[in-house]
Amino acid sequence: MKRIGILTGGGDCPGLNNAVKWVVNTALDTDLEGKRGQSFECFGINDGWHGIVEVDPSNERSVQEHIRPLFKSTVRTWDRYGGTMLGTSRTNPFNPENDQSEKVISNMRALGFDVVIAIGGEDTLGVAAKLKAKGMNMIGIPKTIDLDLPGTEYCLGFESAVSIITEEVDRLRTTAGSHERVFVIETMGRHAGWLALEGGKATGAFIILIPEYEVNANYVCDLIKKGDDSGLRYEIIIVAEGCKICGGEECFQGKETDDFGHKLLGGVGERLAKIIKQKTGHDTRHVVLSHLQRGGPPSAYDRRMGRAFGIAAVDLIAREEFGKMVSYKDGRITYVDLETALGKLHTVDVDKEYDKEILNGPRELI
Ligand code: F6P
Repeated sequence: MKRIGILTGGGDCPGLNNAVKWVVNTALDTDLEGKRGQSFECFGINDGWHGIVEVDPSNERSVQEHIRPLFKSTVRTWDRYGGTMLGTSRTNPFNPENDQSEKVISNMRALGFDVVIAIGGEDTLGVAAKLKAKGMNMIGIPKTIDLDLPGTEYCLGFESAVSIITEEVDRLRTTAGSHERVFVIETMGRHAGWLALEGGKATGAFIILIPEYEVNANYVCDLIKKGDDSGLRYEIIIVAEGCKICGGEECFQGKETDDFGHKLLGGVGERLAKIIKQKTGHDTRHVVLSHLQRGGPPSAYDRRMGRAFGIAAVDLIAREEFGKMVSYKDGRITYVDLETALGKLHTVDVDKEYDKEILNGPRELI
């Protein structure tokens, strides 16, 4: 009987519970058990790496607090809910100021985990890759609404977030049109503009600004004036939170950093809206979509991808192919080495996927 530990780390998003449910369903499938000649037990680790750092395996109460057995009956209804039923954290066991990685390793061993499945983005899977390098059996499942993980074309949460952006922009259009206003809508997207770009394409935004292309505010204002001249009643501008306005820095909400050294972004939409108002005289409003983009139930796509990634993670374990991240590439579920998650982030190729003249998606595709 092999023991699988499962955790979700970093920012929550829709699709995580689907992956957990399908890890459990696949691992505990009695038919497959017969075919594979091996059986599994599943345990949820609460609150990401925090749970495995904090647990005291010799203390039953502590184990109950941080680790819980997962059965098919436990996870049966999880697939319709967003967030993560396991809880999450931004705990970094490799934080150089407080390295807890040896504790993670000894706790994993004491709890009898043969493998841990980490569901997360660059930070969470980066930790998994470092644990792999220390000899631990790890499997990664990619998730981040930013879609910036290397080694996969899909990360859980992204399509749900794009659907939310689409709904919210539809709502803002009616009020923008009624008042003839410019609306600057700030999406998430720390280093990569995928959410802004695909959300902007889905909603037909007038201008889309992404972190990969530093923007000149005067140029944005010129485009708005051109839009006015062509008869537009209002303009929708989508800006990713990680954007810089030429000559400026990224906008942060304070100086505090998390365990991985990231500051909380936010404020570029407001900054840009002020400049637009000043330079064009337009009545301008800004809206920060913020954590709304990570809330609510998963889209159909995230439910299906969570299921596929969960099943694939157990396939790898059954084949004893440890140290891999499941991945989606060229329309297929596959896998890559976990270290891939530590590589260069998957960002928008502005020469191919962006039009620098109109600050929008490409106008020619074939
Ligand atoms: O990394 C994913 C992400 O959603 C980023 O786009 C955003 O900057 C960050 O998480 C915000 O995270 P939180 O407020 O949960 O710390």
